[in-house]
Amino acid sequence: MTTASLIDRAALVRTIASQHLTDRGPLLPVLHEVMDELGYVAREDVQTIADVLNLSIAEVHGVVSFYQDFRTSPPAAHAVALCRGEACQSVGAEALYQDTVARAEALGADVAVTEVFCLGNCALGPSGTVDGRLHGRLSAQRLDALTEGWR
Ligand code: FES
Repeated sequence: MTTASLIDRAALVRTIASQHLTDRGPLLPVLHEVMDELGYVAREDVQTIADVLNLSIAEVHGVVSFYQDFRTSPPAAHAVALCRGEACQSVGAEALYQDTVARAEALGADVAVTEVFCLGNCALGPSGTVDGRLHGRLSAQRLDALTEGWR
């Protein structure tokens, strides 16, 4: 990241935080807006937010690290989220998850494989999302087809 873009990022985060100064409990709205605008909450963002909201860095860091929704690094280019809920586990989700993690690493592509717990698609398990789109009856072969071209 260039110095100019670091300054731009800091200015944007400062503006976002400043816009929520009069809110009750402004920290979560600020963090969500930073996620929406910039994709993740960088370490430098935590400092800026703490400064603007008059909170300690530990308070802001504690909230960022507590909630799984807040990323602290840029997101991967592609995302696969596999359900590990009970209904999906009963039809092989655990093995599919382990296999998918290993295959993503071997692929060498910029892919984040994460777990979720029930997507409301239990009757069609194993379920998951591929770049945000819900799919059912997933298998290694179906995932290969859905992720073709990610290399
Ligand atoms: S348990 Fe997997 S979609 Fe519900």
